Amino acid sequence: AEIMKGQYDHFMQKEIYEQPESVVNTMRGRVNFDTGTITLGGLKAYLPVIRRGRRLLFVACGTSYHSCIAVRPVFEELTEIPVSVELASDFLDRRTPVFRDDIAIFVSQSGETADTILAMRYCLERGALCLGVVNVVGSTLSRETHSGIHINAGPEIGVASTKAYTSQYIALVMMAVQLSDDSISKAERRQQIIAALHDIPSQIKTVLSLDKSLQQLAKDTLAKEKSLLIMGRGYQFATCLEGALKIKEVSYMHSEGILAGELKHGPLALVDEHLPVIFIMTQDSLYPKTQSALAQVTARKGQPIIICNEEDKSVNDTHKVIRVPRTIDCLQGIINVVVLQCISYHLAILNGIDVDFPRNLAKSVTTE
Ligand code: AGP
Repeated sequence: AEIMKGQYDHFMQKEIYEQPESVVNTMRGRVNFDTGTITLGGLKAYLPVIRRGRRLLFVACGTSYHSCIAVRPVFEELTEIPVSVELASDFLDRRTPVFRDDIAIFVSQSGETADTILAMRYCLERGALCLGVVNVVGSTLSRETHSGIHINAGPEIGVASTKAYTSQYIALVMMAVQLSDDSISKAERRQQIIAALHDIPSQIKTVLSLDKSLQQLAKDTLAKEKSLLIMGRGYQFATCLEGALKIKEVSYMHSEGILAGELKHGPLALVDEHLPVIFIMTQDSLYPKTQSALAQVTARKGQPIIICNEEDKSVNDTHKVIRVPRTIDCLQGIINVVVLQCISYHLAILNGIDVDFPRNLAKSVTTE
C-alpha cells in the first residue's frame, strides 16, 4: 500500500511524530513489563555464543553508527565484553583484524547500505558470528547475517533517519539487557532499565508537545546562523553527533557534535559571543563535568542553548533552556534526540529546503 503523509507536510515530520508508537512496536512482544524480562527471539539460540565472544564489534554508517555509539556504554556495563564501534567504510579501509570468536553486529535501517553489507561479508569470511539489526524485513543484511533483530519501526521514507534511530537504540538496549540476564549482580540495573522503557513512549510525546517552542527557537535564534555546535558527553555524545548530522543533512547549516571532554583540546577556540552552542546537560553522573564545560563557554561569552531535565533547578533560566522529561541515564538520549530532530526539521523548513529529499543524498547508499 502507498504510504501517505496524512496530516503531515513531510515524511520526516510524520516519522518524528510517529516515535511514541514506533518505539512501542520495537518493544512489542519482547519486553515483558510484568515479569521484568526481555526476550529477542532471534538472539535466544545464540546467547551462549555471544556471551563467550571476545569482542562485540558494531559496524554501521551515519545515523545507524550513532545508535551504536549511543549504546556502547550500556553494553560495556551490562556485558563486560570489550566493545568496538566502527564506521563500515573505515573498518574496511583498515582491513581490521576479525576473529572467529568476534560477535559482529551490523546496524542498518535499510539493510542495503553497501559499505555495511561489504563489512558483513568480510566478517562472515573470517568466521565471526554476524548479527543484523535492521528495519527492512528481507533486506540483504537481514538475509545474509546468521540472525538478528528487526527493529519494527515501520517504513521510513524521509532521507533523514529519525524513528529508525530511536528504535535501533531501544532494540540495542534490549539486546544488552537480554545478554546480561544470566548475571545476578546486574539484576537491579536491568529492572531499572525495563521500568524506564515503559515510560519512554509518553516521554517522547511530552517532547513533541514542545515542538511549537522549538520552532520558535529555530526561527529566532538559529535560522540565520552559519554554524552550530552541539556539546555533551558520556551517554549524550551520540546525541550530539546525531543532532549535528540531522542539522547539516536537512538544513545545510554547518553543525558539529563535540564531546565536552575535548573542549579544551581545540573546539574552545571557536567560541565567541556569536557562536550558538547547544548543551546537552540532562542529569547523569557526568553532570558536574558538563556544567564545567558550560562555564568554560559562558566565560568566553558563548551563547548556550541548554537541554536539561524538567526538574533541574541548577540551570539558570536567563539562558535559553529546553526542559525535557528525565529517564534513566542510558535511555535519556532517546528523549533528547527528539528535540534535535524537531529543531533540524524547522531549520530546514525555515531555509526553504525540501526535508524529505535533501540535495546530493539518497535514502540508502547502495554504492561504495
Ligand atoms: C541519516 O539521516 C542518513 N540519511 C544516513 O546517515 C543513514 O543513516 C546511513 O546512510 C545509513 O543507512 P542505513 O541505516 O540504511 O544503513
